[in-house]
Amino acid sequence: MSGRVVAIDGPAASGKSTTARQVAERLGFLHVNSGLFYRAITWAALREGLTGGDSGLRRWMPELEIEPVVGEGVVDVRVEGEAAGAELQGREVSAHVSTVSAYGFVRDRVLTLLRAAAELADVVCDGRDIGSVVFPDASLKIFLVADVRERARRRLLDYLVEPSDDAISAEAERLGARDRADSTRERAPLIRAPDAVEIDTTNLTPEAVVRRILDLAAERGLSPRAG
Ligand code: DC
Repeated sequence: MSGRVVAIDGPAASGKSTTARQVAERLGFLHVNSGLFYRAITWAALREGLTGGDSGLRRWMPELEIEPVVGEGVVDVRVEGEAAGAELQGREVSAHVSTVSAYGFVRDRVLTLLRAAAELADVVCDGRDIGSVVFPDASLKIFLVADVRERARRRLLDYLVEPSDDAISAEAERLGARDRADSTRERAPLIRAPDAVEIDTTNLTPEAVVRRILDLAAERGLSPRAG
């Protein structure tokens, strides 16, 4: 039987992953970061020297061994029998993951993996098409938004860069371009599912966002299962 699912979607730097991790912890669910699965496939493809075009990738994809495994509060990803680690957040993977995650055959594979992850446990899954495509029957769907300058400011703080006006403007421009690319791509664009609850986090603390989602979860009868 499939577990219960809370879906959290939103644009780049909207705070999805941090929010999802905390909501999962407080509900006693596992956090599934869908970006991690795209990163794991990209990492494995880079190891095979396969990110130049889509035909080699497409042929290799059925050979790739990848599976979701239960970790500490999260669902991790195992690639070719190895737990994938910090390399997934590295520069090389980050530079290629947008291209790799746009291929339909990659998205199909990740969709299957995310659904398999939800067979392992109750999950809070974050991404861009989780409520719209991957789990259309999720018990609760959240769509996080925030003003682009505020997202830029938060991202600079994450990178330990002083958020001056000029730095915020430059980062906001990059995020705006990524929003447009993510919203207009043909396969699985970033869209808000009609039944998703939108939360504007521009003027909310992370704790306030988490509390709002926990309230919505409680209204839908979602709480840690006894035993
Ligand atoms: O959230 P992240 O930076 O780890 O995501 C990595 C990449 O995967 C990013 O380029 C967007 C893409 N992605 C996606 O297309 N769909 C998802 N559900 C999650 C991530």
